[in-house]
This record gives sequence, C-alpha cells and structure tokens, in this order.
Amino acid sequence: MRELTTDADVRAALTDPAHYSSRPMGALDRVLIGADPPDHAPVRRLVAAALRATAVPDDAMAGIAGELLTPLLERGEAEAVADLARPLAATVTAAQLGVDRAAAGDLLRFGDAVSAVADGQPPDLTAFADLDLAVARWAASRRSCPTGDGISIVVTGARGQAGLKPREVRSLVRLLVVAGIVTSARLSAVTLLAVATDRELQARVRDRPADAARVVEEALRRDPPLRFVLRQQAGGEVVACRLDEANRDPAAHPDPARFDPDRDEPHLAFGAGAHRCPGAGLARRQAKVLLQVVLARTSALSPAGDAAWDRDQHLQGPAAVPLSLTPS
Ligand code: HEM
Repeated sequence: MRELTTDADVRAALTDPAHYSSRPMGALDRVLIGADPPDHAPVRRLVAAALRATAVPDDAMAGIAGELLTPLLERGEAEAVADLARPLAATVTAAQLGVDRAAAGDLLRFGDAVSAVADGQPPDLTAFADLDLAVARWAASRRSCPTGDGISIVVTGARGQAGLKPREVRSLVRLLVVAGIVTSARLSAVTLLAVATDRELQARVRDRPADAARVVEEALRRDPPLRFVLRQQAGGEVVACRLDEANRDPAAHPDPARFDPDRDEPHLAFGAGAHRCPGAGLARRQAKVLLQVVLARTSALSPAGDAAWDRDQHLQGPAAVPLSLTPS
C-alpha cells in the first residue's frame, strides 16, 4: 500500500476529499468516518451536537480520576494503563453516551473487540453481539423517552436534523466506543509515562499544573495513538496517511524524536480537514486532568519497572506502565 509520510503530504490528502475518499474507513463505520461529501456533513453536525450536549466537565473527570487513584495510593503502586487510563476513558465514555457507569467494563470489552477487528484479527463475535444488543436497548429506551444525552440526540435528531436509523446508530456507537476509549486511554498512559520518567518535567508540572496541557500535546505529537488513516484515490488505489510519520517529519518538527513540551507546531494526531477528530478536546482534557490529579495527590511518581510498548497495526502506546506512587 502506498504511504504518505510527510506533514505536507498527509495534510494535503486529508483536506482534499474530492481526490482522497474516506471510503476505506468504512470498515470501521460507513455513516460518519467512512462517509464523503455530501453525506458526511449532516451526520457530523449531529455527532458534534451529541458530544457537546454531554460534555463531561473537568471537575467531574477529576472526581472519577480521584476515585480510581485512592486505593492505588494506599498500595503505593499502580499499573497506569489497567488501573487508571482505561477505566477513566471507559467511565467518561459511559457518561458521554449517557449510559450507566456500571456499563464501563462492558464498553472496554467492546472497544477492544472493535479495535482488534480494525487490526485484521478475527472478530470476537460474542462481544459484538453483546454490543449490538446493548446499543439496541439504549436506542429503544431513548426513542420512547429521550433524555437529551448523546444517544438520544443521534436517535431523535437535533437542530432540524433527522435522527439516524437503527443500523446507523449501531455503527456510530461502535465507532464512538473504539474511537473514544481505546485511543484516549493510550494518550493518558503515554502522558503519565512521559512525566514519570523525566524528573525535571515532573517538577515543572508539579510547579505549574497548567503545563500538563503542553505535556499532553507533545505526547500526541511524538507518539500519536492512531498511527494512520486510510484514503482512496480516484483510480481505486488505497493510501495510508501515516500520522505517526508525519508527526516526526523533520521539516515540520525539528529534532522530531526529542520530547519537547515547548513546541508550538501544529501536529496531525487528530487528523485534519472535515473528519478531524470531534473528540479531540475531550481526549486532551482527560489526559491533562488525570496527570494533574495524580501529581496533586503524590509527592513522587516513578517507574516501577519497564513500560511495555504496544505497536498494533493501527494503534500504538504503552500496554503497561508500572508506577510507584508516594502519597503527598
Ligand atoms: C487521543 C485520543 C484520540 C485520537 C488520537 C483520535 C484520532 C482521530 C483521528 C486521527 C480521526 C480522523 C479520522 C480520519 O480522518 O479518517 C478521528 C476521528 C474521529 N474521532 Fe477521534 N481520536 C481520539 C479520541 C476521540 C474521542 C474521545 C472521541 C469521542 C468522544 C472520538 C471520536 C471520533 C469520531 C466520531 C471521529 C470521526 C469523525 C468524522 O469522521 O467526521 N475520538 N479521531
């Protein structure tokens, strides 16, 4: 498969839907991420309205992160991916969709199942059947009694926009589960890892918690959780737009392997153009708030062993980040 690897080439392709169709992304979902103009924009408006309506505020996120952290502080250690990043992402996504927090564990299982299929593994049919059943149940209850949450908006419509058909709702919720949980968890984990392994950086963010946002941005730039997106050209040729390579293009990011939170160059971790990630703000806030909460409640944070790095086809990021925590 042909690959685009520079910042300029990837940006040009992603902002030119007339020549670079999103059709290959339809393997994940045809309704939004795999749609082209003119079908894409109305669904995008609906999803943007749903995400806005259910935005989880920073203090609510900090509350969830704090609850996850309390037992870990007592133990003095944590595995940041399984104990913090993944449950936080799943709980926030549950709130965003408007489903019971108790469903967070199921959402994690569903997200993993969708992401494994995106990497060409055989589908976990039980997980898919359970997810489709759960979505059908959520959608039916909102259809009869809309609550204004994310699922209600995509089911019933908003701002003059009709709601989606059951098949479309199923596709979209599958997309949100994988897009919202699996990627965000990787971002939170890589952010914690960056600060745990760099004392100077840790001291700086302890001193100036607002700089947590800069660490998140540089984590996104250097190690974007989603490694590529696909596009199709007029002749049918599929190209991989390599976000990971573009984010390390020396023409756009001098000394690209260096982790430097003081960079201000725009990067491509969330894509570009009409499909640019509508969950970018949420993912950034989640990683920032988690880092701030962990630093506020510890006096020291350090690695307790080597972090395992996962590089699947589509996704990359730490698979496990063992940490030692000293409560403040
Ligand atoms: C660090 C975390 C995340 C990363 C790296 C990421 C990355 C991306 C990228 C690169 C795209 C563009 C795909 C393309 O052009 O084909 C995208 C689209 C999308 N993302 Fe995210 N995302 C993240 C978090 C989220 C979250 C938290 C949500 C939901 C709350 C979300 C929902 C979506 C949706 C619905 C789309 C499709 C948008 C469209 O096709 O118009 N993402 N994401």
